[in-house]
Amino acid sequence: MQTLPSSSPAANFDMDDWRSGYRSQPNEYSYEIEHIDGTIPAELTGTLFRNGPGLLDVAGHPVHHPFDGDGMITSISIAEGKAYFRNRYVRTAGYVKEQAAGKPLYRGVFGTQKPGGIWANAFDLRLKNIANTNVIYWGDKLLALWEAAEPHQLDPNTLETLGLDYLDGVLKPGEAFSAHPRIDPSSAITNDQPCLVNFGVKAGLSSTITLYEFDPKGRLARTHRHNIPGFAFLHDFAITPNYCIFFQNPVSFNPIPYLAGVKGAAECIELNAKQPTRAIIIPRDGTGPIQTIDLQACFVFHHANAFETDGKLYLDSICYQDFPDLKGAENYLEADFNSIPEGQLWRFELDLATQTSQATCLIERGCEFPDVNPNHVGRPYRYLYIGVASCATGNAPLQAILKRDLTSGQEEIWHCGPRGFIGEPIFVPRTHGTAEDDGWILNLFYNAESRCSELAILNAQHMTQGPVATLKLPHHIPYGLHGNFTQNLVLPQ
Ligand code: CO
Repeated sequence: MQTLPSSSPAANFDMDDWRSGYRSQPNEYSYEIEHIDGTIPAELTGTLFRNGPGLLDVAGHPVHHPFDGDGMITSISIAEGKAYFRNRYVRTAGYVKEQAAGKPLYRGVFGTQKPGGIWANAFDLRLKNIANTNVIYWGDKLLALWEAAEPHQLDPNTLETLGLDYLDGVLKPGEAFSAHPRIDPSSAITNDQPCLVNFGVKAGLSSTITLYEFDPKGRLARTHRHNIPGFAFLHDFAITPNYCIFFQNPVSFNPIPYLAGVKGAAECIELNAKQPTRAIIIPRDGTGPIQTIDLQACFVFHHANAFETDGKLYLDSICYQDFPDLKGAENYLEADFNSIPEGQLWRFELDLATQTSQATCLIERGCEFPDVNPNHVGRPYRYLYIGVASCATGNAPLQAILKRDLTSGQEEIWHCGPRGFIGEPIFVPRTHGTAEDDGWILNLFYNAESRCSELAILNAQHMTQGPVATLKLPHHIPYGLHGNFTQNLVLPQ
C-alpha cells in the first residue's frame, strides 16, 4: 500500500480536554431536554440509541482501555420538536456482580487486569460480556451488542435490561453475535422488505464464520457456517445484495501473555505487515464457493459500504497501516497520538473473475465511524459521512464531520470546535425525501468547555452552516462507540 504523508501540523486540541471525556458517568438520568439552541426539525421523529463504555473504572480501579468499560445505553427520543433523554447501564451479570462486590472481579479483553498482579489474573479466562459496542432495534427488540457473546435485550422505553437474548433459539449460550449487523434495505429473501444480516466468529488456528439473516419480525430467514484457514479478527463486514465480504487482517495471536495474566487477549494480537490482508467473499444465499482475494497489508476495523457493479465488488474501508494499539503507553489516557497510525478511507476494487484487487485512498485525513444513507447500504452510493480529525494529516482525536461526495470528490466539513470531540455520525433520511443526502446528521459530541455532551442535528445538505439544533445535556456521556436511529419509536410514555 502506498505511503501517504504522515507528518502533521500540530493538532489543535488539548490532551486534558480530550481526557476529560473519559470520566465515568455513574448516574442514570431520565428527563426532557430543556436547553435547545435552534429548532429541532418538525419532521424528525424517532429515537437515537447509542452504546459505549459508561464506566471507565470499577470502584476506583481504572480500566486499561475504554473498550473494557461497562456498556451504557443512551436514548434520545425526538418528536414534535421536543426531545427526551435517558441513559442506563446494561445489567450484565459481570456489571451486577462487580457493583455488588465493590471491586473488579473480571479481566478485560483489552488489558484491564484484576488487582493482585499475575497471581490473581493468570489462567482466569472467563469473559465478561460487557454489552458495550452497539445497540439496535430490530424485530420489536432492543438489543445491546458485544461481539464475543450473545446480545442483551432491553426495554426500548425504559432501557431496563430484560436479560440475555438467544434470538429465539438461533444462538447457543455464549455464542458470538457481532456488534456490526448490516441492514439490507430490500432483500429477495424477505420479499423485498429490509433484512438484518449479521455474523458470529469463532477464532482459532482456523476460524468459523456463521452468517445469519433475519426478517423484519426478527425471524431467522437463513443461516450458514463456513470454516476459513487461520486466525480471524473480524470486527465488521460489508454486504451487497449477493455477498457478505470480510477482511481477514494479517494478524497472529500469541496467547501466552494472556494466559500468564500479563496482557489482555486483544493485546496479544500482532499485525504481520508482510502478509496480505485477505478479502473473504461469501455468497449470501449460502451456495457457491467462498472466494478469497489478497490485498496489500493493512488493518481494518470498519467498512463504510460495499456495492456491485459490472462484475466487480467495491468496498470502502477504514485502513490502518499498523494495528492501532496503545504502542506501549501505560494506559489509553497516556496514548501518544503521534505514535498510533490514523485511519484512512480506501476504496478496494475486487475483480471476481481475475481474483485481483486495486486500492485507492479516498480520504487521507484521519477518520473513523463512517455512515451512509441506510437506503444505499450494499448499493452504489454517492455520499459518505464520517468523523475526522481537524488537522489534515496525522493522527488526532475526531473533532469534525466530513461529508464526501464520492462522485465529484467534493468535501464539506463541520468542525465542532477546538474543545469539541465528536462521536459516530448517524445519517437519518427525510421521510419521502428523494435526494440521497436529503436528511439529517445526528451527532452526540463532547464539549470539553462545558464538560457536558451535546446532540448536534445537522441538515446534511447544508452542514457547513452548522447544526439546525443543538441539544445541550446538563452532564456528560463518555465517548461512545456505535448506535442507530429508529423511526419506529418516539417519546417514552
Ligand atoms: Co465497531
